[in-house]
Amino acid sequence: METPSPLPLSGKHVALGVTGSISAFKAADLASKLRQAGATVEVVMTPAATQFVTPLTFQSLTGRPVVVDMFAAAEAEAHVEVARRADVFVIAPATADCLARLAHGMTSDMVTLTALATTAPILTAPAMDNQMWEHPATQENVTTLRNRGVEFVGPMEGRLASGRSGLGRLAEVPQVVGAVRMLIGQRSGDLAGRHIVVSAGGTQEPLDPVRYVGNRSTGKMGFAIAEAARDRGAHVTLVTGPVALETPYGIHRVDVNTVAEMLVALEQATADSDAIIMSAAPADYRPANPSAHKLKKSSDEGALDIELVKNPDIIATLPAGGVRVGFAAETRNLEEYARQKLPAKRLDFIVANDVSAAGSGFGTDTNQVTIFHSDGRHEELPMMTKYAVGLAILDRVATRLSRGASR
Ligand code: PMT
Repeated sequence: METPSPLPLSGKHVALGVTGSISAFKAADLASKLRQAGATVEVVMTPAATQFVTPLTFQSLTGRPVVVDMFAAAEAEAHVEVARRADVFVIAPATADCLARLAHGMTSDMVTLTALATTAPILTAPAMDNQMWEHPATQENVTTLRNRGVEFVGPMEGRLASGRSGLGRLAEVPQVVGAVRMLIGQRSGDLAGRHIVVSAGGTQEPLDPVRYVGNRSTGKMGFAIAEAARDRGAHVTLVTGPVALETPYGIHRVDVNTVAEMLVALEQATADSDAIIMSAAPADYRPANPSAHKLKKSSDEGALDIELVKNPDIIATLPAGGVRVGFAAETRNLEEYARQKLPAKRLDFIVANDVSAAGSGFGTDTNQVTIFHSDGRHEELPMMTKYAVGLAILDRVATRLSRGASR
């Protein structure tokens, strides 16, 4: 069966302004990644930018005409249309000169002209030498633009074209794409203004300073839900056990190791949340007496006995948190066990996955889940990407919130 994989930017128009920096070549990758995320991408360039990358490069990557010459009659008309259609206008790279002209409302090229002609949110990704970035003139322009609602992603610390190191590198492409997705969500998403808390990953309960009791959770499910919630405009707090995943742009991440730490972090995060989605795999038991020193292998053949004590059930312990969503990770009797957990954990609905099925559960990019509701209904969903599962969960959260579910 086909795996439904909705793209985060499908149906969205992104106008991309490119200005004359050595890092303009990275804008080609950005244009490509935005298109892969489902967006229609329309590029406007300054003449200086064309010294670094040709318009043909962007035209080939986006499948759309590129506008450079503001005096060509057809193109001048085109910029107004690009500005009108845009859901977001991202300028990457944005030079110091571009920021100065934006701050003063100048329209001397297609990029600044489009910025003045659009009502879409404007996102700039500055790139320049660190001394130019730190110069009071640039910083004043940045303050002016921020006060006017212009968003910034980066610049980053690192090696610069001059060979020096400092603050001035263009933000990485995934960060810029993340910022675009966040801004569009905040402008038009159905969860704008909501605070959604998501837990992810497994916990590690120490046996000694080098060993722990843990499980196979990679955090992929929770991170996908968090990204989906951000893309729909929510302010997202992601409480996660140790995982090897990058923090998605714009998401407030809290790292924890144990169930005790996860409980404290979630108590704090859910104090003002509209929903808690508990996709983490916290350990049910922990070693009763973790050793202060590394346990040594004994010389005889006897077994090592480790006493385990029960951990608190986090979601059952949390006071409220608005809409309450749990997961059930089962290898048998999926429905029976999931239905038992619903009232025991005071959940609005539970997302049950058979973690022994191919393509489902731990470490996969897909999941096949059945949602059991507190009113007795259930919905069996097809195999989907974890991002699509996240969207499906959030559809149901949004419905409950629109019906007035409260904190
Ligand atoms: O991270 P991935 O590799 O992407 O894998 C995703 C996943 C398999 C971990 C995820 O889809 C999933 O099923 N998460 C729930 C794992 C789990 O702990 O299931 P459970 O049936 O043991 O627990 C039921 C619910 O109680 C869960 O919402 C769990 O977060 C919560 N719980 C469990 C134990 C505990 N001490 N406190 C809890 O709050």
